[in-house]
Amino acid sequence: MAPRTPPPIDIRPAAPADALCLSALAIQVFLDTYATGGVRPAIAREVFGTYAEPAFARHLDDARTRLLVAERDGHLVGFAQVTLGATHALAPDGAQAELLRLYVQEPFTALGVGTRLLREAEDLARAAGATVLWLTPWVHNHRARAFYARRGYQDRGRTWFTFEGESHENRVVARRLGGPVAP
Ligand SMILES: CC(C)(COP(=O)(O)OP(=O)(O)OC[C@H]1O[C@@H](n2cnc3c(N)ncnc32)[C@H](O)[C@@H]1OP(=O)(O)O)[C@@H](O)C(=O)NCCC(=O)NCCS
Repeated sequence: MAPRTPPPIDIRPAAPADALCLSALAIQVFLDTYATGGVRPAIAREVFGTYAEPAFARHLDDARTRLLVAERDGHLVGFAQVTLGATHALAPDGAQAELLRLYVQEPFTALGVGTRLLREAEDLARAAGATVLWLTPWVHNHRARAFYARRGYQDRGRTWFTFEGESHENRVVARRLGGPVAP
């Protein structure tokens, strides 16, 4: 018997009805990525606050936010979130936008989903007038930092992510949204 072709993964703009699944997916990927030493109260409060369904409902209602989802057979497997007009002093001059989140569920990584979400996020930022896209990956997130570096993002220096009285070093990386960059 011939192997069944897996359902395709489609990228589309998020809709208000996606807030619940965006929340669940974001919490899962956040914990997988950042709670590598287990869960403590500060992390638990962060996920149930910042990543709760009402927070995503607010993002979806925010004129400056653009959310893209990767969907397979009616299931969300990844998403990208851009904040238009968000600026960072270490990013290059220009009309800046922030890639606030790019999350792919672990079983669907290394399939090209992250690259597709990133490229579509860049396209929609560019279409909205942005000339620079920047983000702040965690200094210890080596997989993500290598991913962005291979896609034309340059390290611009250090910044700090502060939550619950803790400070964590992040890097500022950015790319000019001029021409295409391989792959
Ligand atoms: C970083 C992240 C977004 C990358 O997403 P991804 O879907 O794995 O990205 P891709 O599949 O497009 O690319 C990853 C690698 O898989 C490879 N790949 C892509 N398609 C492939 C395929 N069909 N077969 C084999 N390998 C493939 C790519 O070549 C790429 O390697 P490269 O960077 O050396 O080119 C993802 O790992 C993730 O969500 N991590 C957790 C959350 C996180 O850290 N987010 C970033 C915070 S700033």
